[in-house]
Amino acid sequence: MKQKIVPLLDEETIRARVRELAASISDDYRGKEVVLLGVLKGALVFMADIMRLLEIDHQCDFVRLSSYGDGTDSSGRISFSSGPSGSVRDKHVLIVDCVADTGLTLEFLTNHLRQENPLDIRVCVLLNKQARRSTPLHLDYVGFDIPNRFVVGYGLDMAEKHRGLPYIAYLEEED
Ligand code: IMP
Ligand code: MG
Repeated sequence: MKQKIVPLLDEETIRARVRELAASISDDYRGKEVVLLGVLKGALVFMADIMRLLEIDHQCDFVRLSSYGDGTDSSGRISFSSGPSGSVRDKHVLIVDCVADTGLTLEFLTNHLRQENPLDIRVCVLLNKQARRSTPLHLDYVGFDIPNRFVVGYGLDMAEKHRGLPYIAYLEEED
C-alpha cells in the first residue's frame, strides 16, 4: 500500500514556535551553566535549530536511546545505546527530545541522569502526544500538543525514512 504524506505543521509554524521556546530557555538559564542533552536521532534537527537561536552560552551533548523498532508502536523496552560523553554532575541539564509519546524514554533518561547528581533536569520537547502517556511526566517546554498520530519529518522517522522533511507530517494509507 502507498502512503501519502499529509502536512501537520509547516516550516514557518515550526520556526516561529522554536524561536519562542529558545527565548524562554534563554531567559530561564541566563547566567547558568546549562548542558543541552539531545536525544538522538529524532532531536537532531530540533536541537540544531534551538542551539542557533539561544542567546546564552551552553554546552551540548547527546544520548542515543531506543524504544521503537521499525514500527510505530512503543516496545516499552528502552535501551541505552550511548550515554552522554561528559558528566552532568553539578550542571543544569536540559533534555531536548523531538516527541513525548508514552513518556517511557524520557522517564528512563531522567531517572538515569538523576543518579549523577546534576543541579537540575528539565525537559524540552517539540511535540507532545498527551493521549499516549503511560507514565506521569513533567515537561518544562513544549512546542506543540499534537493528536495521537504517528508523525514524521523535522528529524522524526518511520523506519529511518522521512527524517529530512523540513516540516512535520503524518502518513496516510493510500490504496
Ligand atoms: P516514548 O518513550 O513512547 O515517549 O517514545 C519516544 C520516542 O519514540 C521518541 O523519541 C521517538 O523516537 C519515537 N516516537 C514516538 N512517537 C513518534 C512519532 O510520531 N514519530 C516518530 N517517532 C516517534
Ligand atoms: Mg524512530
